[in-house]
Amino acid sequence: MAQINPSILSADFARLADEAEAVRGSDWLHVDVMDNHFVPNLTLGVPVVESLSRATDIPLDLHLMIEDPDRWAPQYVEAGAGSVTFHVEAAAAPVRLAREIRAKGARASMALKPGTPIEPYEDLLPELDMVLIMTVEPGFGGQAFLDIMLPKIRRTRELIAKHDLQLWLQVDGGVAASTIERCAEAGADVFVAGSAVYGAEDPSEAVRKLREQADKATADAWWACGH
Ligand code: DX5
Ligand code: ZN
Repeated sequence: MAQINPSILSADFARLADEAEAVRGSDWLHVDVMDNHFVPNLTLGVPVVESLSRATDIPLDLHLMIEDPDRWAPQYVEAGAGSVTFHVEAAAAPVRLAREIRAKGARASMALKPGTPIEPYEDLLPELDMVLIMTVEPGFGGQAFLDIMLPKIRRTRELIAKHDLQLWLQVDGGVAASTIERCAEAGADVFVAGSAVYGAEDPSEAVRKLREQADKATADAWWACGH
């Protein structure tokens, strides 16, 4: 079944516990950490993640858009994250980092900006629990979905199948009712949605609808046959 991860970047930061409650029933809560260096925006850090993990039962899906994730990512596991995604463009030693995240007890995930190809990282895939293909340039919510990323999603799904891995494939950026089916058909099974969820009148209903759309599209998809 498709997983929908609402992104709190589009939520009210003064009411994070309530905003988590508003998407009860979601698989994960997506938390965007930005340092104003790796991306031109600044959000939150370890203390906020610590408080949020105490305030909600929904597991936290951390997306680190920061420099030097080798140094910081383990601290987010200790702060209560269930999954930690680092950007491969920023990681000095991605294999060592993924192993450290897993050893500390979280799922390890690697993100690729739109200009970063997946092919050089084929041999790293067994070290990971998830790959995140960015479908916008990271930094801001509410941007338009980049259709040109669909072939990369497809190629990543092919690599996962080729190596018979249990990896999840996440997409993030511009995922909404109008784009989620294309992502699912191409091979994504975890969908981050910020404005499409928190911009809706009823956020948990928006999550339910997106999941239904994704599940329908997946049922007919080339990559999910036999699943
Ligand atoms: C952008 C963030 C996303 C953002 C997505 O860099 O990584 O998680 O919240 O927002 P939408 O879904 O509005 O594009
Ligand atoms: Zn994100």
